[in-house]
Amino acid sequence: MARPDGITDLSHIRAKAPLYKDKSVPAEIRVDNLLGLMTLDEKIMQLNQYTLGRNNNANNVGEEVVNIPAEIGSLIYFDTDPALRNAMQHRAMEESRLGIPVIFGYDAIHGFRTVYPISLAQACSWNPVLVKKACSVSARESRMSGVDWTFSPMIDVARDPRWGRVAEGYGEDPYLNAVYCAASVKGYQGKSLSDSTTVAACLKHYVGYGASEAGRDYVYTEVSPQTLWDTYLPPYEAGVKAGAATLMSSFNDISGVPGSANPYTMTEILKNRWRHDGFIVSDWGAIEQLKNQGLAADKKEAAARALNAGLEMDMMSHAYDRHLAELVAEGKVSEATIDDAVRRVLRVKMRLGLFDNPYTPDVPDRFLRPADLKIASELAAESMVLLKNDSTLTLPLRNVRRIAVIGPLADNGKDLLGNWLGHGQAEDVVTLREGIAGEFGKDSEIRYARGCALDGHDRSGFKAALDTARWADVVVLCLGESLRWSGENASRSSIALPAIQEQLAEEISRLGKPVVLVLANGRPLELNRLEPLANAILEIWQPGIRGGEAMAGILSGRINPSGKLAITFPWSTGQIPVYYNRRKSGRGHQGFYQDITSEPMYPFGHGLSYTTFEYGEPTASKTEFRRNEKIKVSVPVTNTGDMTGAEAVLWFISDPYCSITRPVRELKHFEKKTLEPGETAVMEFNIDPWRDLSYVDADGKRFLETGEYNVIVNGKKISLKLTE
Ligand code: NOJ
Repeated sequence: MARPDGITDLSHIRAKAPLYKDKSVPAEIRVDNLLGLMTLDEKIMQLNQYTLGRNNNANNVGEEVVNIPAEIGSLIYFDTDPALRNAMQHRAMEESRLGIPVIFGYDAIHGFRTVYPISLAQACSWNPVLVKKACSVSARESRMSGVDWTFSPMIDVARDPRWGRVAEGYGEDPYLNAVYCAASVKGYQGKSLSDSTTVAACLKHYVGYGASEAGRDYVYTEVSPQTLWDTYLPPYEAGVKAGAATLMSSFNDISGVPGSANPYTMTEILKNRWRHDGFIVSDWGAIEQLKNQGLAADKKEAAARALNAGLEMDMMSHAYDRHLAELVAEGKVSEATIDDAVRRVLRVKMRLGLFDNPYTPDVPDRFLRPADLKIASELAAESMVLLKNDSTLTLPLRNVRRIAVIGPLADNGKDLLGNWLGHGQAEDVVTLREGIAGEFGKDSEIRYARGCALDGHDRSGFKAALDTARWADVVVLCLGESLRWSGENASRSSIALPAIQEQLAEEISRLGKPVVLVLANGRPLELNRLEPLANAILEIWQPGIRGGEAMAGILSGRINPSGKLAITFPWSTGQIPVYYNRRKSGRGHQGFYQDITSEPMYPFGHGLSYTTFEYGEPTASKTEFRRNEKIKVSVPVTNTGDMTGAEAVLWFISDPYCSITRPVRELKHFEKKTLEPGETAVMEFNIDPWRDLSYVDADGKRFLETGEYNVIVNGKKISLKLTE
């Protein structure tokens, strides 16, 4: 393989022993030097990841390695104190023959201690700049706590909200996932991986995991080659271009070839075509699971298949440490393959500066800093989506004297953190009740009643809740999900809230008081029964530690909501999958459900504001242009209401006919802009035909066809013609 630094002649470098320890020597040369000194066993140990302590993730509890060899390549680190890491690192540096540092990884998914909204919520902010900032806070907290590497971002396009992991990604659209992926990689990795405040990113789960059949986790995925390229690969390509140091291979079987033993995705696409020079770690136990998936007879065969397919590091299968030496001896795995894998691991460690600065200094006060909490507040506020605000304009609440705060999410900090909460603590969270008290407490009286638990049949709290509602001028009803209903191994057969919560809403609505429904959940919900019971609905997702404050700011009008859905809310579970960028039907006028509407409850991009935005007619710098010409499409957007507000302007392309059919619309560009009342901004989309109008075939080959295209912005269309 060609060397990434382009160095071909090493003769001028004088052999200084040991070269790999010399900071002044270029990284690639250090890696080569080290590789040349390693025994096969030492190399193999670099390709394994164990845990330091027992995994705190209930879905992945493996055999804990008690006597961790000093030669281990990587460890998952569950502590927040660098001391334990440093103790282990001392062993690696001092007790192993070559002193190779360990790389410590951890799942800091939406924050480490300062917990931000779940990624799905972040996507609804349409603010990648803010997402990048949140990721850099997470990186700093992680690195200073002994973690060099986060298993994030999760960029699996997901269109089945029964799948608990929809919470972890950036929604249903490939482009949107790609944009946030690049932003988060840049946030985590900063300018240099060797800074003491950055971490290596890990794009996961490579690839197609979001297609899990019927939303059941870990199962088979039917991903056609065309869909792989159209839908699932684009975020990964963006992440690789943004410089992501690593990827995690997926659990799922991709149409017969599991993600963790897939030479096409891992070697052909990632390494050969995209030239990624970092490494891939398997998901937890994924190599061993190749047996269960029916690809390998035993763990040894699984190890050979995974490594030969291009998977460098084994997370907790003990397939590589136990079998690679034997496989090399038998000629089933070549030493060259091992060398390439080890080189990639060492390269990332070198880039992280671990050889030169293996230990984490103990810096006090690294968590919950005021500037970081401010980002948590802003991101929570921008992530929230006002789904409904009825004709009486229930929100914002003005001059309300008596507020009833009711529901199982009202006084519940833990569930607002969402799944994969890192080291988040319930006591760090501003609950919804506390947020409302802080926002309205001076001028209004606030009473609280839980009403019911998140689930179950206990209606004993209904009476107190109804009494409280009867007393109030407005009811803020806080319903939603437990954090345990999202994330890994958290599939649900229905996306409706449990009946007890719907019953509480029904009884409260019968009192005739204005009801503001606040929803805290990790997936789109089935809202067709709840929607008529509420005058306003605010989707706050699992908003992290400053969620209560942000939510209350929106209720009072201190904050004008600006979130828009990054994922469709189906009308009912039976509509799944329903997403905006589907392909066209041969009979667009037929084929609807007989028993329910075929329209979703709330489409992708839906989100209300307290002000109104008017879009003028879009215009193009040229409506007829050639394939190598770039053009500009513009649209004036005016804030026609009386409140300052931010509008995310979403630009879609549609290709009416094409040699390979295209989706009805595809998001290609977006920009969010704050406008004062009366202010107009001319929003622009610079179209590069090759980037924005082309399509790929089932092997990723890109084509650009001449002919008609439409650009669509806020439902307004402009037709373009591409000529030779
Ligand atoms: C399994 C999960 O699928 C993955 O997302 C996570 O990073 C690893 N376990 C490590 O905890």
